[in-house]
Amino acid sequence: MTTLAEMAVEVLTTADGRAKTALAHRHAASWRDARAGEAPEIAIGVATPPLRPARPDRPELLPPREVPRRRPGSEQGRIALLHAVAHIELNAVDLHWDIVARFTDAGFPPGFYDDWVQAADEEAKHFNLVCDCLEALGSHYGALPAHAGMWRAAEDTVDDIFGRLAVVPMVLEARGLDVTPGMIGIFEKAGVDHAVAALRTIYAEEVHHVAYGSKWFHWLCGRDGLDPKPVFHDLVRRYFHGALKPPFNEEKRAEAGLPPDFYWPLAEETSPKA
Ligand SMILES: [Fe+2]
Ligand SMILES: [Fe+2]
Repeated sequence: MTTLAEMAVEVLTTADGRAKTALAHRHAASWRDARAGEAPEIAIGVATPPLRPARPDRPELLPPREVPRRRPGSEQGRIALLHAVAHIELNAVDLHWDIVARFTDAGFPPGFYDDWVQAADEEAKHFNLVCDCLEALGSHYGALPAHAGMWRAAEDTVDDIFGRLAVVPMVLEARGLDVTPGMIGIFEKAGVDHAVAALRTIYAEEVHHVAYGSKWFHWLCGRDGLDPKPVFHDLVRRYFHGALKPPFNEEKRAEAGLPPDFYWPLAEETSPKA
């Protein structure tokens, strides 16, 4: 019987985006059925995830500075924006399966795995939604170059579950909450309804991923008798390169269990009242 950790590694070692996300949906459904008692139990197990997930030959991955910027006022610019989002979503699928496979000995209750399998399932949906938008606009994922640095946070925190939760859901995915409303506005203005709908789904579901991060970070700190706030600040300064960028989506961050005194002390010079 395949374990959850082995299922996660299967997703991580599948290169093609549509194939990876199809497998992600299938394994997430199996896990849910097993947890609901509708199928035989699945053990968490132990596996060795690859340091880097398998990726398709395209897109070409470039250092962030070399990825060409296009203005969102043009159709080409909007395609480039969606292409960047598709790349983020594909990385997110792998990030969530990686946390499942890599931290099986951290002593988490099964609810930890429920949350990240759910998040991975949603990221797979997000990738496909955005790919559908790209294809409706005559493009596709792989047509443009993409950022090479996206997996860095995972590699930096490969043996530190506190750091992984602090940087991936609580910094990177929280940043998504800050910038998504602006992106929705760009596609509303251009009248691209399918992209507006896709981004609204992403925006609604990403709040939960940040919340899972905050919940399990606090759980770990509570278990080990640590004060979460200074621990969070230390970890972000160690693993995240650069300051956090305001303006912050205070409302959605609050909904996700991220209070202002977690992120403001890590922000660029501007103060909340300035
Ligand atoms: Fe997503
Ligand atoms: Fe997410």
